[in-house]
Amino acid sequence: MKFGHFDDRNREYVITRPDTPLPWINYLGCQSYFGIISNTAGGYSFYRDARLRRLTRYRYNGVPLDRGGRYVYLRDDESKEFWSPSWQPTQHALTDYSCRHGMGYTVIGSSYKGIEAHTRYFVPLDENLEIWQLTVTNRRNTPATLSTFASIEFCLWDAQDDATNFQRNLSIGEVEIEDGVIYHKTEYRERRDHFAYFACSRPGAGFDTQREAFLGPNRGWDKPATVEAGQLTNSIAHGWSPIGAHQVKLELAPGETQQIVFVLGYQENPRDKKFDPPGSQTINKSLVKPVIAKYLHSKAADVAFERLRHHWDSVLNIFQVDTPDIHTNRMVNIWNAYQCMATFNLSRSASSFESGIGRGLGFRDSNQDLLGVVHVEPARARTRILELAATQFASGGAYHQYQPLTKRGNNDIGGGFNDDPLWLILGVSAYLKETGDWSILDEPVPYDNEPGSEEPLYDHLRRSICYTLERLGPHHLPLIGRADWNDCLNLNCFSSEPGQSFQTSTSKDGKVAESVFIAGLFVHAGRELAAISCHRGLHAEGSRWRSEVAKMEQTVLEHGWDGEWFLRAYDDFGNKIGSSECEEGKIFIESNGFCVLAGIGLEDGKAASALAATREHLATPHGLVLLQPAYSKYYLQLGEISSYPPGYKENAGIFCHVNPWVMIAETRLGNGNEAHDYYTRINPSAREEISDVHRCEPYVYAQMIAGKDAPTFGEAKNSWLTGTAAWNYFAITQAILGVRTTYDGLQVAPVIPASWPGFTGRRTFRGVVYEISIKRDGPGNDIALSVDGEPIEGNIVPPPIDGRKQVSVRGVLG
Ligand code: GLC
Ligand code: GLC
Repeated sequence: MKFGHFDDRNREYVITRPDTPLPWINYLGCQSYFGIISNTAGGYSFYRDARLRRLTRYRYNGVPLDRGGRYVYLRDDESKEFWSPSWQPTQHALTDYSCRHGMGYTVIGSSYKGIEAHTRYFVPLDENLEIWQLTVTNRRNTPATLSTFASIEFCLWDAQDDATNFQRNLSIGEVEIEDGVIYHKTEYRERRDHFAYFACSRPGAGFDTQREAFLGPNRGWDKPATVEAGQLTNSIAHGWSPIGAHQVKLELAPGETQQIVFVLGYQENPRDKKFDPPGSQTINKSLVKPVIAKYLHSKAADVAFERLRHHWDSVLNIFQVDTPDIHTNRMVNIWNAYQCMATFNLSRSASSFESGIGRGLGFRDSNQDLLGVVHVEPARARTRILELAATQFASGGAYHQYQPLTKRGNNDIGGGFNDDPLWLILGVSAYLKETGDWSILDEPVPYDNEPGSEEPLYDHLRRSICYTLERLGPHHLPLIGRADWNDCLNLNCFSSEPGQSFQTSTSKDGKVAESVFIAGLFVHAGRELAAISCHRGLHAEGSRWRSEVAKMEQTVLEHGWDGEWFLRAYDDFGNKIGSSECEEGKIFIESNGFCVLAGIGLEDGKAASALAATREHLATPHGLVLLQPAYSKYYLQLGEISSYPPGYKENAGIFCHVNPWVMIAETRLGNGNEAHDYYTRINPSAREEISDVHRCEPYVYAQMIAGKDAPTFGEAKNSWLTGTAAWNYFAITQAILGVRTTYDGLQVAPVIPASWPGFTGRRTFRGVVYEISIKRDGPGNDIALSVDGEPIEGNIVPPPIDGRKQVSVRGVLG
């Protein structure tokens, strides 16, 4: 069952009924000002940091779901009937409801009794504000007299404090009204130099800034007393809950259309110019007034919207493909690329499932997110890499997370996740392959943000690899520390009391528990570092990494092999995890996917055996589950992984982040059919038809789909912000379609399904547009390439030496 359809030409998903199984959201903003918005206008906005600079309130875990939003109400002043054109919050029945989620914008609208209304929400590029363009048309053959209300509820900035510290917060709310603009200035009197505002393009028929005055006692957003009565009360908030509400009266002749523009924004003032007049407590509005005035004009808003569309067109046009599979095309060309930007921008901070008050930016997460965006945002990728490296410790380890606003490592969680530093090597190598900008390696970067501790970025990579080498266990496999990629495999924690953190409740420096996954990651990252070192002319060092890699490979084959597949780990007692000897959790996806991806066991058949076992034990119609058999009870020595009921999350859920490792692994064995089959099983577009089962948005990946042990097998959760985005993008573009960046040029080495006659693509790479056309002439993966009509040796297209900006690459596959 579907709840809408794709409009690929406009790069939109069109939702045609408001009662989607869950709120289906989109993101507004891509630089500093962000918002999430659901298909019924729920959501919130923030500046840079979803915890520390929250503009508007949203109630996670409230009922009904998805309350707090950018709510518009219409009232027929003759019949006194009122409704929300976005369905929520009134849930009044509507005709022709639709929500178009597009690239950085959302349009929600409907008709009711001949009144058509839709609102276009977006954040203009380079501004810290959002625009709501409400267009109302009277389709009746009589004049319509309407009142329009637009409302938001302000958050008192720190979203965590706002939701908990009522003894203070119910007394500090403050607003100002000037020229009909509502300014929210809680705490501006003291240490804040920022405020929010909510403005309206039409002279208002009234406003409200106190929530209780607007809603009326004992009422919710579904039935505000003022909207019902048809008149706002001009209330001024003193404490309690400041809101912004505007009322505009509309007289519409038959067939007439009018537009109202609302602007919600964030502004910072220089500390010494906070007040006007100086010495007063009144906000200095001189900087913000011209911005507000500009965007309240429909024309300026339209221009900003067109600019935003152009921006996204140029972002997405960097890589476009045309394959025989519509789901591949749609995800590569539009939605997966778009989701990669969202994860890069926001890491795991703000979505329907991430409350914005949690973890900030993750070290391993952000490094992996780079894989999906480095071709689009090389400059921002560079900055991010340097930021990440600055949260590394001198030991080579790293803070597991840091706050985007302060850029400081998060002390609550600390470090000791032993895979973390290796991801930095992969982030940097992806950047180098894309850009060829080797100068990044010379950038001085501090450790733990400590001034004076700077070393070139290259030395950070060296410390990353040494961090693993200095932490090997009894089998010479890497020690796992608090966890490896799987945050829930906590082999050194032994958490026994409710509420304890599974990762940090003990600070045991375990010297026994080892991770075969980290070994695979080490082999992969070590090869990259060796190539980087040699490129720097450090050949001896390069050889050293190569021999360490070879040693680790050997160790994995000896101590990380279970007979048919790769083991997952050894626990603190030296017992195997992910072995046929285990009662539960006999086989895991991560070590099998990553070891083969890293090239371990390709020669001696172990890789093929591991993938066959993966297929046999882990593959389901909804994707590959993380392990089998699921843990049926809590194991103290394994930690959080066994805390989840069977089939959910890391306990045998279909963890979509790791599925692509198996896809890539399959391509290493030349299995294009299998790789693309796995790709399709979790491709959200391919799952659109079962939206009632899948339940999350059909246009973006979710972190998890419930596994076969779960009562809700096939049901997705945690959509949007997940490493799934970057890895699936990487798997389909670089491994399956095989349009792959290398240090020396663009490689074209597809491993596609045997049934595909070929595909075409266009990829901008280091300033050159490569028009690629692949034709199949046999079932295999051997490729013969010609560049601008001339056959070339091998499969790496050399960069044009004569300054050409357009290159045609033809490949015959067979
Ligand atoms: C709050 C505090 C209390 C303090 C009082 C006056 O009620 O909980 O400890 O004495 O404020 O500041
Ligand atoms: C979450 C975390 C990620 C971790 C994964 C598996 O997605 O953000 O860092 O690797 O879970 O536990």
